[in-house]
Amino acid sequence: MIQSDLDLFGPQPQRLASHTVLLPGFALGEVEALLDALRPVLRAAPLRHMHTPGGLRMAVGLSNCGALGWISDEQGYRYSPVDPLSGQPWPDLPPVLQALAARAAALAGFDGFLADACLINHYLPGTRLSLHQDRDERDYDQPIVSISLGLPAVFLFGGLQRSAQSRRIPLTHGDVLVWGGEDRLRFHGVLPIKPGVHPRLGERRINLTLRKAG
Ligand code: SIN
Ligand code: FE2
Repeated sequence: MIQSDLDLFGPQPQRLASHTVLLPGFALGEVEALLDALRPVLRAAPLRHMHTPGGLRMAVGLSNCGALGWISDEQGYRYSPVDPLSGQPWPDLPPVLQALAARAAALAGFDGFLADACLINHYLPGTRLSLHQDRDERDYDQPIVSISLGLPAVFLFGGLQRSAQSRRIPLTHGDVLVWGGEDRLRFHGVLPIKPGVHPRLGERRINLTLRKAG
């Protein structure tokens, strides 16, 4: 049987909205390099459960690397150059991660993306992330690059109002999703992760969200 060029070159980018592109499997070739880079990051800045400004413990475990890290506490959501757990700067953003994010952003039409913040989200089966907007960054002209590893997830991709219908986008190991431009402030979230065991990462999903925050 003759394969088409499309099959030979793997799954093609999918435009999900005017400024939103899903790159299926884009990170697959670099999973080991990413995990190698993340190990020392998570030793220096371990995953932890932060609290919302309202005092609720967040279900997602998180950490950060890069010049700025996203944090939440009773004073609000914001970026900080310092890990509140250690009092030290966040670990450096691994170059392999920054380069991958820049390539993904360029494919989605955002040239020159230089992330300075990477949020590391850790989901166990059953963990969800409720609908929210990413609006703690300074410049909304900069896109968001989101790398999914481990167990599959259903990403909710909504509109500019919380009440708008959300699309359900399956995200699997190695997928990269880029959104920016007029989609930058769309509400989004993650449905509860289904129980399962991923062959490489076990019973977890890890999401790396790269942004230019400062
Ligand atoms: C986020 O919105 O911060 C994370 C999204 C995801 O885990 O896919
Ligand atoms: Fe988000």
